[in-house]
Amino acid sequence: MITRRDFISRASAAFAAGMVAPALIKDSDILAKAIGAGRKSKSVSVNDKINVGLIGCRSMGWGDLACFMTHPDVDCVALCDIDRNVLESRAGDMEKMRGSRPALYGDYRKLLDRKDIDAVVIGTPDHWHCLQMTDACAAGKDVYVEKPVANSIAECDAMVAAARRYGRVVQAGQQQRSGAIWHKMKKYIDSGKLGRISRVNVWANFNYAAILNPVPDTPVPEGVDFEMWLGPAPERTFNPKRFHGSWRMFWDYGGGLVTDWGVHLLDMALWGMNVKGMPKRVFATGGNFTYPDNYAETFDTLSVIYEFEDFLIQWSNVSIESGPYGKCYGLEFKGTNGTLVANREGWEVIPEQQRIEAETCQPDNLDRENHVSNFLDCMRRRDADTACTIENGSFCAKYAHIGNVSARVGEPLTYDDARKTFHDRRADRLITPEYRKPWKFPKF
Ligand SMILES: NC(=O)c1ccc[n+]([C@@H]2O[C@H](COP(=O)([O-])OP(=O)(O)OC[C@H]3O[C@@H](n4cnc5c(N)ncnc54)[C@H](O)[C@@H]3O)[C@@H](O)[C@H]2O)c1
Repeated sequence: MITRRDFISRASAAFAAGMVAPALIKDSDILAKAIGAGRKSKSVSVNDKINVGLIGCRSMGWGDLACFMTHPDVDCVALCDIDRNVLESRAGDMEKMRGSRPALYGDYRKLLDRKDIDAVVIGTPDHWHCLQMTDACAAGKDVYVEKPVANSIAECDAMVAAARRYGRVVQAGQQQRSGAIWHKMKKYIDSGKLGRISRVNVWANFNYAAILNPVPDTPVPEGVDFEMWLGPAPERTFNPKRFHGSWRMFWDYGGGLVTDWGVHLLDMALWGMNVKGMPKRVFATGGNFTYPDNYAETFDTLSVIYEFEDFLIQWSNVSIESGPYGKCYGLEFKGTNGTLVANREGWEVIPEQQRIEAETCQPDNLDRENHVSNFLDCMRRRDADTACTIENGSFCAKYAHIGNVSARVGEPLTYDDARKTFHDRRADRLITPEYRKPWKFPKF
């Protein structure tokens, strides 16, 4: 996979060496076209104030926006949510924070029509990310889109295509990419001190994967535009357990723990191991084994093995909140000289038979703030090479999705990313979601 980061570093290496190979001219041409070539709205420059709009205001979207608001040169001019209760409450919060109420919308397309908005933050459920992000790109906005960037493999590809076609700066909300401890971890792994790494174990054990005590469908709550919440997902009646917050455990809207936490942690595993393409094979199995009466469709118990030439990456989740090294989530790189164990609370190296020194690293807990600052800096510089590009967000989301696909069809699979097929009819049906009319799957 060639990312725009690769384009930039290859093009600058050639430039520094005083030679520009024809292939690189082509790559950098694409880059030059990609950056600052938005069609409908102007792109910000160094001294401009940046106007942002938030789509999906309840939890993470609001948390992201709060980081944007720590920058005095950023204004929030519009909020959009399909739940009037959330919208009014966030408008009040914004008024307290900044002294004025932003414009309020129930339909994100109206927000995107505004010419004065430079960037949007997308904090909606996963099944909405692709349409909202690609529409935002087409409207000439830069985009901070929450993770997992999409709820399917084909949507990941569409989002990369949209960012390139419309020349937008995009940050995927995998904030660990802006965390100092993770960069130090990567440097440590790259030093080779761990020796030969044969396995990376990744786990996230959270009980919110279990949706217990189901309730019957109910009338749609006052103030909620449920039709607009469902959007491209299949028609159904309202159920409070498939709505705010818990939607991530139902296939039409999310992918369970492996897409929720997996994209953060698998990203670190793939980055640490310098993985650039799809694995040779993926083997996965799972079910609702911890709680057989779990109302969730996604699995409260799941194991995924990603097979590479000379190492394995293994994902696992269970809904019991404990795990290896006393951590309910994290990852460990197992090398011949030692094991590096990491999560957001820090990392440590545990030597194997004193072959290397023990080491520890503590976090500064500024990942999200740094991630937002990086996005704003990239917007001003018209630099598509954000800390977590849409290419990278898509790459990790695909890893999470192929694990789910393998578990859902119950087969080991090989995903051919060039031909967009698993060479398995049942698995291939899970690559592209069928959008409910009138929504159309975006094509570029
Ligand atoms: N980066 C992180 O660490 C992190 C942490 C938590 C959540 N997230 C991600 O943030 C996203 C949102 O998760 P959440 O926990 O905040 O969900 P949530 O259900 O709490 O909030 C989603 C909001 O989007 C609104 N919404 C739904 N459809 C909409 C539409 N068509 N237009 C406008 N608003 C709409 C809902 O009404 C709700 O207010 C998810 O993709 C999730 O994976 C990221």
